[in-house]
Formats: sequence, C-alpha cells, structure tokens
Amino acid sequence: MVELPVTLAGIKLHNPTVLASGILGVSASSAALAVAHGAGAVTLKSCGAEPRLGHRGPTILPVPGGLLNAVGLSNPGAAAVAHEIRDFRGRCEVPLVASIFGRTEAEFGEVAAIICDAHPALLEVNVSCPNVSSEFGTPFGLDHDATARITRIVKDIAGTIPVFIKLSPQAHNIGSLARRCQDAGADGITAINSVGPGMAIDVYTRRPILSNLSGGLSGRAVLPVAVRCVYEIAQNVSIPIIGTGGITTPEDALQMILAGATAVGIGTGVHSTGISIFQEVCRGLSEYLEESGFTGLDDIRGAANDR
Ligand code: FUM
Repeated sequence: MVELPVTLAGIKLHNPTVLASGILGVSASSAALAVAHGAGAVTLKSCGAEPRLGHRGPTILPVPGGLLNAVGLSNPGAAAVAHEIRDFRGRCEVPLVASIFGRTEAEFGEVAAIICDAHPALLEVNVSCPNVSSEFGTPFGLDHDATARITRIVKDIAGTIPVFIKLSPQAHNIGSLARRCQDAGADGITAINSVGPGMAIDVYTRRPILSNLSGGLSGRAVLPVAVRCVYEIAQNVSIPIIGTGGITTPEDALQMILAGATAVGIGTGVHSTGISIFQEVCRGLSEYLEESGFTGLDDIRGAANDR
C-alpha cells in the first residue's frame, strides 16, 4: 500500500483529499464526520462578518452531471465560526481550512482577523462565489487588481497562517490571475469555485427554479473545466494548488494531480457518492501508484504539464 502524504504550504496532510467548502456547513461536528471518513483536511463553508441567511429556497437543485446552487453565502458570522474552529481543534488533529468572504475589500481583512484568532491550519479566501456578485457590486475574483489587493490585505493579517485564494473558472486568464495572487503573497490557490452561473427552468411553472434564478454548477460535469484551470495555474505559479471541481472517482483525482494539484477538493462528490468518497478516492490513488511502480504522489504531480 503506497502512502499518500502531501504538504500544503508547510501543512502536512496524511492524504490529499480535502472536504471542499460549502458542502457540510460550518459546524465542528460535520467537519469531524468527514475526518472520521478519511478526509485529509476539511474546509468549512465561507463565513462573513455578520450572520447571513442567504437566499430563500430553493437554493440547491440536482441537474444532469451535478448540482446547481445559489445558497447565497448563508453562515452564522465569523465570531460563531471561530467558536466552531476552536471546538474542532479540540477534537481533531487533521488540518482545518477556514473559508472567508467580505462584502468589501476591507471587510475581507476584518473577517480574516476574527478567524485567524481561532488558528485554523489554513485560510481560504473566497473571492469567487457566483451567486452574490451583483449584490456585492464587484465580482472581486473576476478583477485581477481587486483579487491581488484582497490577497495582500488578508495575508498581512494572517501572518504565518497559509492563505489560499479560491478562484473562479469565469476569471479571464486564470493562470495569470493565480500569478498575481502569488506575487501578492498567497501561499496557495484553490481552483475552482462553481461554474456559470447556470439556470434551470420548470416547464410547468415556466419560471426559473432557483429563487436566485441562477446558480453555480458543480459536480462531474465541471471536472474538465477544473482540470484545465488547474493545468493553466500550475504553469504559472510555484505555490500549491487544491484542485477542486467535479472529483467523483480516483481517476478524477489523478487528473487533477497530473495537471499539477497538490491536494484535491471534494464537494458535490460527497452528495453523489456519500461520505465514503474520501476513503474510496484514497484507495484508488494508492492502487494506481502501486500498480504503476510509483512511490508517492510527488512522482506524478504535474506530469501532464511536462512538455
Ligand atoms: O451561494 C453560495 O453560498 C455559494 C458560494 C460559493 O460558491 O462560493
């Protein structure tokens, strides 16, 4: 059995699977459930400065190949999430990734300060939610300058806590955007957030189904988009990438690692496969390495990028 340890900006994971943000909420108990089922690290749903209800239902809809979601960044606020982080750290050794957003550039810094006080292992900065940009005025993650400024603001506050910037597949030239993040002090990149937004229409009511009208697409259908984004990012940065988007099988995770990802985020796959997905992906990765004569994931990371 080939072991699968990876290191993300100095943080050691016993395997590369990471519970992606948004899929199991913000509670320490849900995060601990993913740990009990083999996740190498866990990410909480993004939190902001204040408690936020999000959009009214329906907010999540199964569609061919995945899910459409427009949850609207519902969360109990940074202070409550900081409490959950402390609770988690009291019961689990596995690295916890806290995810934050802000309604303004300055607010990213305010939220980072509250969350960093609870000492998550890593801080993910969500500049790429596709469901609230009109409300927030600026789709931060589509604007390279704004994303670089937010990276700098958060990194100044996070200090030694590694900062990962979560990018949108809608961003123009995602490779160069990732480079801007690296230059602004990011310790890593998470790619990608959901795709679109997309829309589904009820043919009987003749209206869009989601209350927000449109929502981000996640799940198997987005895997090729995510792999392409990770591939391009890997060509532009030297910091680690958490490749996220559509991973459902060990082969999907392998594609991400071959494209250059250090770790793999699993979100919608938890819905479609169940919480056993972390162990199943790890088992498949280990078998692949063994059968191919490799000694670890370092042997294959970014191999698709070797030209
Ligand atoms: O609507 C949502 O809460 C989605 C968030 C995200 O994709 O970052």
